Amino acid sequence: MENNAHSHTIDTATGLEAPAELSTERVKSVFSQIARKYERFNAVSSFGAYRRWLDGMMRQAPIRPEHDVLDIAGGTGDVSRWVARAHHPRHIQCTDLVPEMLEVARMHKARGDFGDTPIDFDVVDAQVIPYADASYDIITMAYGIRNMPDRPRALSEMYRVLKPGGTLVCLEFSTPPNPVWRALYMFYLKHLIPFWGGLITGDKSGFVYLSKSIRAFPDQRGLASLMEGAGFHDITWKNYTGGIAAVHVAHK
Ligand SMILES: C[S@@+](CC[C@H](N)C(=O)[O-])C[C@H]1O[C@@H](n2cnc3c(N)ncnc32)[C@H](O)[C@@H]1O
Repeated sequence: MENNAHSHTIDTATGLEAPAELSTERVKSVFSQIARKYERFNAVSSFGAYRRWLDGMMRQAPIRPEHDVLDIAGGTGDVSRWVARAHHPRHIQCTDLVPEMLEVARMHKARGDFGDTPIDFDVVDAQVIPYADASYDIITMAYGIRNMPDRPRALSEMYRVLKPGGTLVCLEFSTPPNPVWRALYMFYLKHLIPFWGGLITGDKSGFVYLSKSIRAFPDQRGLASLMEGAGFHDITWKNYTGGIAAVHVAHK
């Protein structure tokens, strides 16, 4: 990805300044390899919390039947499926950087998993969105922004393609405010996530990355500041499972 003079790209595993290519190539390698096992890992590793967080995300998403929805970092189409079932918008554009993830999403479409909600798929890097200004009512993004080396640029792109009055709804891992819960969670992240991931998918390295990237990611307030920096206003968030995850809602 091209860098301009003002962008500070980071290594998403450490949060330290680094060329964007480092994180982009890693994320492509991780997700192209685990694409077919990704959904199984999610279900097992979060003890079912994953579904409750998606339910929460759907409750916070102000999607109406006449809306055009853009799902960023849509992966295997999980969020798009929940949007289709919960809200039946006019259209969903499900996008992701990694074609192998979208292949699984297309398989879900072939099986009828999106019901009768019209949905299309596109390989899109969220840091350079190829769509026109002001073309979407709602953007959904789950576990996406943490994987992007130029987060300010990605959020600015999302702001640009939203219509005035549009909303970004973002589900991401976050930081538990309670120190005891936080310490337990950090132990789980550091030691058990790589173990579980290796066991379920046969490849530990992707889960070592997952664990590191969560620990290096800004807390609730930090993510809200990044959104504010991209132009969003009236940013609120709701914690889930004691702040292990948070859903931020931000307006254009
Ligand atoms: C943890 S998965 C989340 C997928 C889906 N949103 C879900 O909730 O199951 C993260 C996704 O982010 C995608 N991703 C990473 N960097 C991206 C970028 N720069 N632009 C778009 N998608 C990206 C990855 O390919 C991967 O599919």
